[in-house]
Amino acid sequence: MRRKVTVIGAGNVGAAVAQYLAEDNICDVLLIDVVEGLPQGKALDLMQAGPIRGYDVTITGSNDFADMRGSDIIVHTAGLARKPGMSREDLQAKNAEIVGSVAEKAREYASNAIILMVANPLDVMTYHAYKVSGFPPNRVFGQAGILDSIRFRTFIGMELGVAQTETEAMVLGGHGDTMVPLPRYTTASGIPITELMSAERIEALSQRTIKGGGEIVALLKTGSAYYAPAAATVAMVDSVLNDRKKLYPCSAYLTGQYGISNIYIGVPAILGQTGVEKIIELKLAEKELKALQESASMYTKQLKELGY
Ligand code: LAC
Repeated sequence: MRRKVTVIGAGNVGAAVAQYLAEDNICDVLLIDVVEGLPQGKALDLMQAGPIRGYDVTITGSNDFADMRGSDIIVHTAGLARKPGMSREDLQAKNAEIVGSVAEKAREYASNAIILMVANPLDVMTYHAYKVSGFPPNRVFGQAGILDSIRFRTFIGMELGVAQTETEAMVLGGHGDTMVPLPRYTTASGIPITELMSAERIEALSQRTIKGGGEIVALLKTGSAYYAPAAATVAMVDSVLNDRKKLYPCSAYLTGQYGISNIYIGVPAILGQTGVEKIIELKLAEKELKALQESASMYTKQLKELGY
């Protein structure tokens, strides 16, 4: 039987996730949205691209959450996106309502599925979905660190004139202004970037990464990024569905790692068929660890606002 991935939200991110999943031919895709006709229309349009793009998976659209039955993974993209001048945290109250109601439906209709959170503020929404769904923490995690890392990789490639595919990067912490790029673990064809560029340029590219989502919001003016967020999400889906054991920075539930507990935050994790299979605890320098813990304490405060 083909694997089934349900994408909640047929907006820009949801549609791009559906497109990349179809193009990778790895699962059937169900798009669910509350707007009548929108998921059905996008699904049909994507199906009709299949003959020429070379995919044969089934893409359907629905307004009925009961159709998420039988899903292996539920990718939650639904929610408001930022407008210029807004922080991701400004979206918290409204998006929490949406995430909470979808997590209840997941518990009702797809209690064995994995929830992959994409809505912002990412780390807070992932925690909320974990609590409301009641799923074990290995089956609820969030996409953000990969997106932040591919942004860092792209900026490094552009700076050095090196193909961005040859770069690797590690960005930890929350998906927001407190994220923690780790230049020590960031390379071009295996060469640490600390040997390839000055400390000032590394700091400038780290700052551009931290503000990477906002840079695109400011350019688009009417919404936020979706191609790179969707590509990052599909990499995580692929690692789970195909049990690839990829090591990615993900928003994962911590139980004491890095001295942090009972919160979701970006850390390196191995993703396989059971979801988050292992969290890797790096030996961080004092300054790096402090930055990660400060990021976590910021999200602990945000969670209090949601009543946790
Ligand atoms: C970004 C938003 C989607 O970083 O969080 O682009």
